[in-house]
Amino acid sequence: LRIAVLFGGRSAEHEVSVLSATNILRALEPAKYDAVPIFVTREGQWLLSSFEGGTLAKPSSGTEVCLVPGGQGRMMAIPIHGAPHELPDIDILFPALHGLHGEDGSVQGLAEVARVPLAGCGILGSAAALDKDIAKRLLNEAGLPTARSVTIHHGAAPAFAELQSALGLPLFIKPARQGSSVGVSKVSAEAEKDYQATLTEGFRHDRKLLAEEFIRGREIECSVLENTDGGLFVSRPGEIVPAQSHGFYSYDAKYIDEHGAALKVPAELPQEIEGKIREMAAKAFRAVGCDGMARVDFFVTPDMRVLINELNTIPGFTDISMYSKAMAASGVSYCEIIDRLVAHGLA
Ligand code: DAL
Ligand code: MG
Repeated sequence: LRIAVLFGGRSAEHEVSVLSATNILRALEPAKYDAVPIFVTREGQWLLSSFEGGTLAKPSSGTEVCLVPGGQGRMMAIPIHGAPHELPDIDILFPALHGLHGEDGSVQGLAEVARVPLAGCGILGSAAALDKDIAKRLLNEAGLPTARSVTIHHGAAPAFAELQSALGLPLFIKPARQGSSVGVSKVSAEAEKDYQATLTEGFRHDRKLLAEEFIRGREIECSVLENTDGGLFVSRPGEIVPAQSHGFYSYDAKYIDEHGAALKVPAELPQEIEGKIREMAAKAFRAVGCDGMARVDFFVTPDMRVLINELNTIPGFTDISMYSKAMAASGVSYCEIIDRLVAHGLA
């Protein structure tokens, strides 16, 4: 089975994607899969890559590749020197891209246009989950609680006093469509100047921001994998325990500082709360229109309120990522996740 794995990409999570794809490629058993790694540059160009000795190449130039519309897996190579030529067809596309231009439905749409099977979540679920403003509305409509928030459009930011009275302090300002906590800031003081700086920072990442109430709670995450028959497998929940120094589970805590956070899988929770979380994960997956795969992230407050934070339709597959660890704690190995995602895509 020839499987094209896309990695890198145009989003702020470019480097995270390289780590995820490296693990995914390591897990693709050579006896079953013929992997074709494709490096998506920060500019969005697709370049033929290679995976040797456990390392993914990130070429800065070389052979461009593209999928032929309606081609059912036909792939063209466009070398810098020499004539364009056809590559062997691919059987399935596996985007290991995080964030915008990859986890947002765009590449999923490309697979649809090319008529090539896709591993993971499709267009609608990807697009809806990536936009925290849209996702929240779908979740709330399904009766699933989330942190209170105010959506801020570029050029129409409310006065700080308004947010403060709606959400209290401290509050978070986050881009509506980013992952890995990129561009997220915590505003704790009643200082208008912090607010302005935070907006400026946020708008560097997106034209739509969310101001969100601060939830004092544990960060719990659950992996969801759809079976080929449409049933959902929901893992046991895991917990992210951030180091005190980071204040919240920031990008740095996640990927830069190796002591930034610890994973505890399975999370220590009363049985009935664990059951509730797993039920909510499945419900959230459906409410947001997901299929294939997603990781559902929760807050659990000291008084055991359970809120949904967000859904990630291409969750991290790095060494410190929860998706595969929570699946492993539920009896599904790394290789089996990949096999099941591929089977789902081909079904
Ligand atoms: N957005 C990152 C990759 C995650 O949620 O795991
Ligand atoms: Mg995320």
